[in-house]
Amino acid sequence: MNDPILQVRAIHKTYRLGRVDVPVLRGLDLDVREGEWVAVLGASGSGKSTLLHLCGALDRPDRNGGSITYRGQSMSGWSTAEKDRYRNTTVGFVFQFYHLLPEMNVLENTALAAMVRYGRWGYSMRRRQTNQRAGELLEAFGLSQRLRHKPAELSGGERQRVAIARALMNEPQLLLADEPTGNLDAATGAQILDVIARTHREGQTIVMVTHDRAIAGRADRIVQLTAGRIVAA
Ligand SMILES: Nc1ncnc2c1ncn2[C@@H]1O[C@H](COP(=O)(O)OP(=O)(O)O)[C@@H](O)[C@H]1O
Ligand SMILES: [Mg+2]
Repeated sequence: MNDPILQVRAIHKTYRLGRVDVPVLRGLDLDVREGEWVAVLGASGSGKSTLLHLCGALDRPDRNGGSITYRGQSMSGWSTAEKDRYRNTTVGFVFQFYHLLPEMNVLENTALAAMVRYGRWGYSMRRRQTNQRAGELLEAFGLSQRLRHKPAELSGGERQRVAIARALMNEPQLLLADEPTGNLDAATGAQILDVIARTHREGQTIVMVTHDRAIAGRADRIVQLTAGRIVAA
């Protein structure tokens, strides 16, 4: 079996609400191996989004609250530039509510990931290749007739396919998906899971969180987040 690329060890994460500490993650361990699709199943409020934000270096654990290592490097030792590179290039995010920019069309929303990665100047140097890759991804997801449409002109399922294309734009080594079908009806959600499954067959490593056991069942492996820890599902 492949080595873990992501190792989450004894993670504690506590939010402070006024004067009250709210512990959410309490000694959580998780290994993610290259090429696998892991589903983290947990009730609403169990800390699934919190866990994904930590895995994506969008937030950090409590002080002395465990470690997260990516390919053997502890995130706690990363500089701001290293964190930016990880967030912009190594991982791709898919959220429940798409987070597309309303003023940009489908092609621009997808290519935006490259603009964030390379900066405005670097992007303009690569514009042709970038737009070509964005176009290919969108075509693979059945959106080639929608390239010039704005998000408001799309269905929920189409918006989420754009968001997945954007997440894959920079060929991330790890895809982090936060309830990617949570805002969609069952049939449309199933189509989105088919898109995700296809990227997985092509080798994409995926961590997906969901409260829905049937959706989790599409993954290679299901783990359960309960009381701030991972327990076998
Ligand atoms: N920024 C925050 N400040 C305070 N409490 C938060 C914050 N984010 C999440 N929480 C709380 O932490 C718990 C876990 O939240 P979350 O990770 O979003 O759970 P899930 O994604 O499983 O629904 C919830 O009780 C939520 O209210
Ligand atoms: Mg959540």
